[in-house]
Amino acid sequence: MLPRTPEACALVIFGASGDLTHKKLMPALYALAVRRLLPERFAIVGVARTAGDDDSWREDMRQAVRGYARDPFRQDVWDELASRLHYRSTDFGDPGGEDAVHDLLGHLDEELDLGGNRVFYLAVPPPAFPTIVEALGRRRDARGWTRLIVEKPFGHDLASARQLTATLRAYFREEEIFRIDHYLGKETVQNMLALRFANGIFEPIWNRQFIDHVQITVAESIGIEGRAGYYEQAGAIRDIFQNHLLQLLALTAMEPPIDFTSDAVHNEKVKVLRALHTPGPRSVVRGQYGRGFVEGEEVVAYREEEGVAPDSMTETYVAAKLYVDNWRWADTPFYVRMGKRLARRETTIAIQFKRAPHPPFEEMAAEGLRPNVLLVRVQPDEGVSLAIGAKVPGQGMTIRTVHMDFLYGGAFRTGMPEAYERLILDTLLGDSTLFTRADEVEEQWLLVDAIVAAWQRDRPAFPNYPAGSWGPPSADDLLQRDGRSWRRH
Ligand code: BG6
Repeated sequence: MLPRTPEACALVIFGASGDLTHKKLMPALYALAVRRLLPERFAIVGVARTAGDDDSWREDMRQAVRGYARDPFRQDVWDELASRLHYRSTDFGDPGGEDAVHDLLGHLDEELDLGGNRVFYLAVPPPAFPTIVEALGRRRDARGWTRLIVEKPFGHDLASARQLTATLRAYFREEEIFRIDHYLGKETVQNMLALRFANGIFEPIWNRQFIDHVQITVAESIGIEGRAGYYEQAGAIRDIFQNHLLQLLALTAMEPPIDFTSDAVHNEKVKVLRALHTPGPRSVVRGQYGRGFVEGEEVVAYREEEGVAPDSMTETYVAAKLYVDNWRWADTPFYVRMGKRLARRETTIAIQFKRAPHPPFEEMAAEGLRPNVLLVRVQPDEGVSLAIGAKVPGQGMTIRTVHMDFLYGGAFRTGMPEAYERLILDTLLGDSTLFTRADEVEEQWLLVDAIVAAWQRDRPAFPNYPAGSWGPPSADDLLQRDGRSWRRH
């Protein structure tokens, strides 16, 4: 077990004036500060092109913490954290643009005795990566350790992902590269591992003999939130399917790792990704939302969002039937769906078991009885619920489905940490278990590239689902053809 207090180091955030820093990174650092999990000797350096200085960035970050942190604002905690914040306005694309950061790091090293240890966080758009990475690589500090956190998207397809890995590997070793998939930082996602491998009762039935199929849903009620520039290029397939969705699937389907070391876990996940069968065109459905009502409010169609082309063919919804071609899962469908502007926010993994082989009750008695489902609620209402048949009290024998529920809020009575808290802390500790390795990312792209290539052949009639619904009707057909249906909500 790694000690949970990181060594002295400097954390350098590129993209310090951006959205991610405001909404996720600084609030996460504040939460770590509240819990005294940051190193004692520690500095945070914000880097961006936006004009500013230490004072203006501290003020900006104070607002961010007030607006987005999960803990109440505490002046003493903030004062201490703020004293560690530094800002440099510079462009690494300019000759000598990195000097200001380099000089500051040298100075902080001396003042705080950081031993040359550095974490660089690339929270910038991908085109900016190579310039920054090369500048960092050229000026590596030979004394301490260096780690690089790379935000998504990691490439646009397999070729660009490989190119990016090559750029990174020219200066950094794989174990120094921390590719973020923030879903892996979510407590409930990690709990999938606990559920499967800390309990003796699930693993023996976690296979094709007992499981009829699996449904994974990543539904969002929000739209694209002003990110048209990015989303028009990405679509749901690159935004959610390529990373979050496939990681959820890998954790659900993987074999038990020998231990929880980073490589052991990655080795098992990559085997699942490699075993994923490329779905045929009939097994993939894409959608785009039209106008509609979400949570009582009227919202515009995707094509009417600012910055979106009026004839955009970008998909905001994907559903697919996937197969993991191995002994454990052969012929067991994994139905997955994800989309924007759906009826509500819900991320769930539903393991649907086969029906009891021979129910000895009369058909009428068991009407409405559904097969057992183990439902992992990733968010919201985080928890796990098992649907079982139970006798309705009274004379006779009537059976109905009831739920055995575990709710995080009730069981642990503690707030849920944000994914970024865990992921930043793990990077400071040098633990890359909850990050994605180069070969995983490549397998993910391989599948996405094949799906996207097949899409070039036809043009679906978009929009094909109203905002606020559960997606296009063809997604229902996908399951109906197999005599199944999406889980009811
Ligand atoms: C991001 C996507 O990776 O995940 C967003 O780019 C999406 O489009 C977000 O909204 C969802 O994350 P969460 O943690 O809110 O489920």
